[in-house]
Amino acid sequence: MKKISCIQLLENKKQAKKSVWLTAYDARSAQIADQAGVDVLLVGDSLGMVVLGYETTVTVSLDEMIAHASAVVRGKKRALVVCDMPFGTYQVSPEQAYENAVKILQQSGCDAVKIEGGMHMAETIHFLSQRGVPVVGHVGLLPQHIKMIGKYRQHGTTDEEREQVINDAKAVEKSGAVAVVLECVPASIASEMSQALTIPTVGIGSGMACDSQVLVWHDLLGISAKNPPFAKAYMDFSSQAEQAISAWSKDVRCSDEDV
Ligand code: KIV
Repeated sequence: MKKISCIQLLENKKQAKKSVWLTAYDARSAQIADQAGVDVLLVGDSLGMVVLGYETTVTVSLDEMIAHASAVVRGKKRALVVCDMPFGTYQVSPEQAYENAVKILQQSGCDAVKIEGGMHMAETIHFLSQRGVPVVGHVGLLPQHIKMIGKYRQHGTTDEEREQVINDAKAVEKSGAVAVVLECVPASIASEMSQALTIPTVGIGSGMACDSQVLVWHDLLGISAKNPPFAKAYMDFSSQAEQAISAWSKDVRCSDEDV
């Protein structure tokens, strides 16, 4: 079993081989996804919303990300583990980003960090990459900007936004990132970027032309109360869990009556 590396992801792109990314937040789910052949486990700061019950990702702390990334690293054998840098831990300066990225890599044992932002994060991505920190970029919809943008929506529908997304993705590549997430951008942009860039594009809500796809664990397995329109649930975990818990509860209550 060969462990996945950042170089391998680039190789996959060269060979037109799609990589599969999935979010993970704990050891057992990491183990299951790893055994299912997922290439990259993303410890996304979606952690805050789908696991910790926060309203947005803005509230997630560095310690929370490190704790969950450590669990994911303990659970997997083959997959590459990427950990999101949470809001406020990398925007001040490249130096601040480097210090916190090193904490994440050293304390969790993960392989790379992901940061949101394109052109305005280019200097930081370059600083980190030059100093041995593999960085995954993230452009298009930036959930950490929710308090500025007001709602989660597609980005790149106007000419101005389209140019912005394209310039952001190119800046991320030029700065030395190992891959770039394209979140909620039109499929035409995702397709154009996947052809233009040498680093793998990782799509979410951006059509199927990307080099890789990522989904949130809870959306894929039908755990989320409501999925975003682009995310198909491949099972209905919530209903099955509810049925199992009800069946067990009934057994418990019946056994009480037996006594
Ligand atoms: O936090 C996250 O899970 C993410 C993915 C949606 C790309 O950033």
